[in-house]
Amino acid sequence: MNELTVEARAKVNLTLDVGAKRPDGYHNVETVMQTVSLSDIVDIRMTKTGEIRVMSTRADLPTDLHNLAGKAANAFLDHVGYHNIGVEVNITKRIPDRAGLAGGSADAAAVIRGLDKLLGTGLTDAELYALAASVGSDVPFCLYGGTALATGRGEVLTQLPELPECGILLVKPEFSVSTPALFAALDGRRVSRRPDNEKARKALGDGDLRALAGCLGNVFEEALEDEERRMVVDIKFALMAAGALGACMTGTGSAVFGIFSTVKDAEKADLSRFGSTFAVYPIKKL
Ligand code: C5P
Repeated sequence: MNELTVEARAKVNLTLDVGAKRPDGYHNVETVMQTVSLSDIVDIRMTKTGEIRVMSTRADLPTDLHNLAGKAANAFLDHVGYHNIGVEVNITKRIPDRAGLAGGSADAAAVIRGLDKLLGTGLTDAELYALAASVGSDVPFCLYGGTALATGRGEVLTQLPELPECGILLVKPEFSVSTPALFAALDGRRVSRRPDNEKARKALGDGDLRALAGCLGNVFEEALEDEERRMVVDIKFALMAAGALGACMTGTGSAVFGIFSTVKDAEKADLSRFGSTFAVYPIKKL
């Protein structure tokens, strides 16, 4: 076998709180993350060139180690000491980038899992986890998926009870936000409303979708530029008006999502005037 196809799933942050900037330049976060059904398709092929190449259906994405999928392939080959092998990664992008949906991190996690299978290296969970964490803060979560509380810089994971069955409508407006810039915009800023992660954990434990939807919150919404924040608020209002039980921005945006009782309800809500929309559902841990 020298070729493998892996599905790389997007995530949303049901809650997202950010703490102090750390000496290493990262920020402590406390966030409940959830894998959703929207996915990229990642084809991984071994070659004899000794080179790592990333291609995708989106021409503007980097084709080298600046792409997290390339960085993941490089870290993997370094770790196992296979220096003469080349890897070609072909990504069919369906997850919008710069959306807070962890598209790049999901692709990277898919490459790590895929290479371990293709090369038959059988790395331990601890090795896979360490590789993922070296590639990016969201990659460990993408490796396992499901519903989890992420702390530290996002790499410390605690599995949580599954999100009850529901529909989720993702809305990606035109504007995009730089992740480091939005973290910096939060520094020294007084945040007026923080999500209550304890309450969210309890709602998940109780299997109470309505209570969980009432806990959605993301401190990054307050750090957006005025015009962007207005757009996010407009989308959240429109989601609620269309029957969502709760709505919130994911990650550093700019995608916003609403939780609906069913996938059908999410599909019925027409928010296409705000940008691209995707009706999805939660995916359980691998
Ligand atoms: O870990 P990752 O490479 O995805 O992070 C991208 C950037 O986002 C970091 O260089 C940093 O500026 C910011 N970041 C942060 N705190 C985190 C995660 C990311 O400040 N917990």
